[in-house]
Amino acid sequence: MEYLKKITSIEDLRKIAATKVPKMFFEYADHGSYTESTYRANESDLSSIKFRQKVAVNIANRSTKASLLGEEYAMPVALAPVGICGMQRADGEILSAQAAEEFGVPFTLSTVSCASIEDVAANTKKPFWFQLYMMKDRGFMADLIQRAKQACSALVVTLDLQVLGQRHNEVKNGMTVPPKPTLPNLLNLATKPDWCWRMLHTKRRFYGNLVGHVKGMDNVTALSEWTARQFDATLNWKDLDWIANQWGGKIILKGIMDPGDAIEACNSGADAFVVSNHGGRQLDGALSTIKALPPILEAVDRIGSTTEVWIDGGFRSGQDILRAYAMGADGVMIGRPYIYGLGAYGKDGVSKALDIMQKELSVTMGFCGITDLSQASSDILYIPEDMKLA
Ligand code: GLV
Repeated sequence: MEYLKKITSIEDLRKIAATKVPKMFFEYADHGSYTESTYRANESDLSSIKFRQKVAVNIANRSTKASLLGEEYAMPVALAPVGICGMQRADGEILSAQAAEEFGVPFTLSTVSCASIEDVAANTKKPFWFQLYMMKDRGFMADLIQRAKQACSALVVTLDLQVLGQRHNEVKNGMTVPPKPTLPNLLNLATKPDWCWRMLHTKRRFYGNLVGHVKGMDNVTALSEWTARQFDATLNWKDLDWIANQWGGKIILKGIMDPGDAIEACNSGADAFVVSNHGGRQLDGALSTIKALPPILEAVDRIGSTTEVWIDGGFRSGQDILRAYAMGADGVMIGRPYIYGLGAYGKDGVSKALDIMQKELSVTMGFCGITDLSQASSDILYIPEDMKLA
């Protein structure tokens, strides 16, 4: 795509998204909770891991391919579930799912998406992953899981959002879906004509998985209010058996930050779990995910579990993907990088984000003297002392 030639980094996409996406939705994606210390640490701790340069090795043919949950993908990456993707750009979930499918990585649809499971299925060819939030209404949960079964190949159960971490900007911006026609919103929307035009030409402007399935949903526009009322704060490990029985397929648990929880996750029979602090959007003051990773990997290893260990939070380049993979993570979920691409240029922007990260991954592998990800180990890294196991 000619017009994308000068886009060379995820940060370029971020800057363009900031000009094209209404303030409330750009800031929704771009921020963390409270002081944002964890949000920042995710990125800065990743970049504190340095690479070991190796030379005079034949690196002509490199592959970024990796196997995730028994299937081969273009790189060890999945698109993370992101709420209300369809507010970054009209039809955002469908555009992202199509880009992921063409690139050869899994796409995860959020429970709180604008396009429904059925709608994404009708506009893609392959099964995608579905992210589940546990809500109080078990009847609705059972129904949602059955719907996901028709179209999805893995269920990603989010464990760290039973209460909502406050992101100040969401409160200050009065974020609702769709935006209310207040004067500040109208003034801001007037500067985003492309976004408005596309939004006027889609029906996907609300919570597609919920409307028509959850009572009273039609009156709800504020995600934070609805979450506070509906999400089940009693969620515990026993409930995961119930979910697993309803689902009967591959399960990925998201939100593990503690070695004890990692062992519970393995014992629960999950196929994978994601070391995640929800992109620094939930517990501010938590460790960065890359710092939490080594003791978690050690715990999983100690009990001889084959559960895959994934990670997310702060990944902004293919270099970051290599850092985590070489430390022992099986896969990386990326959220903001593709959301910036989506807000900037729709499906082409998502493809561009994936392309940028894959190229960075491949070139960095070469500089480190490896041609295949199976050769990536901590030998190619300088790991800071405070990230090493005692
Ligand atoms: C939802 O997943 C959020 O982080 O807002």
